Amino acid sequence: RSGVLHKFKGILFSTMSSEELLNSLDSFDAREDDVFLVSYPKSDLVEGTHWIAEVIENIPNARLTLTSPIEFGDISKFEELKMVSKQRVIPTHLSYDMLPMKIKITKCSYKVIYVVRNPKDTAVSLYHYYRDNPNLPPTATWAEFLELFLRGDVVYGSWFDHVLSWEDHKNDENVLIIFYEEMKKDVSKTIKEITAFLGIHVSDSEINKIAWKTSFSEMKNNAARENYDVNHTICALTSNRNLVFRKGAVGDWINYFTSKQKRVFDELFTEKMKHSELARHFE
Ligand code: PPS
Repeated sequence: RSGVLHKFKGILFSTMSSEELLNSLDSFDAREDDVFLVSYPKSDLVEGTHWIAEVIENIPNARLTLTSPIEFGDISKFEELKMVSKQRVIPTHLSYDMLPMKIKITKCSYKVIYVVRNPKDTAVSLYHYYRDNPNLPPTATWAEFLELFLRGDVVYGSWFDHVLSWEDHKNDENVLIIFYEEMKKDVSKTIKEITAFLGIHVSDSEINKIAWKTSFSEMKNNAARENYDVNHTICALTSNRNLVFRKGAVGDWINYFTSKQKRVFDELFTEKMKHSELARHFE
């Protein structure tokens, strides 16, 4: 098992993100119509076929191209992104602080969709990802992994810091915040929010079709049928599609946390997130 991570600006990254690329992020030229799909890992987002990405890819006549994550690869990544002629949808797990400087200082009209998921479910999902992925460091037990998660010693750092980095931007006109749990509760409503945010008109029957096509069971079955990993980034990490479509549920954490672990987690949550409106969704 290789599982080597490296640190950049105090945050852990997998070997998928070369230091050279991370160092050059600030020179990335954003386009006015770029859409960034952002989340902490395992909050459902990206890499080509996960939930929100699948929703976007299923919008009829949208003329959008979903790229691989901006932080994956080497310096040739920017050349690859330059070649995309349609409107780019660029996924990333970077926190706000690490996003390319140019997109933060130029007043361009790029859009950001930030997806947030309950941190306890996120921790459980990431635990499985670590456990089953030969390219990530081995973790012996859930208890051990949870300690790493709470310390932010996992890929992309601390969930708490990631969410806090977006806190000041949650009301920006070009930012749409999506909560995983709300999407589970009413996916059609979320799809409508996404299409309205992107300025694309979609009829109710098309919304229903997208909702059906992007349901967990449909995506999981399709992945199995189409050998979906082959052309996607996840393939570079692992050939195990179950790493992505594991359970897709809300509240699975209850099957993992002991009452002591819950107490420790809640104490840290309260301390770190006391001023966070985003975190209030998970209290
Ligand atoms: S990654 O590897 O970090 O990019 O993974 P990411 O796609 O962000 O998150 C994976 C989790 O999202 C769940 N998922 C879904 N849930 C509900 N409906 C749909 N359609 C869907 N697609 C992906 C996926 O199951 C992972 O969560 P867990 O809890 O591990 O199942």
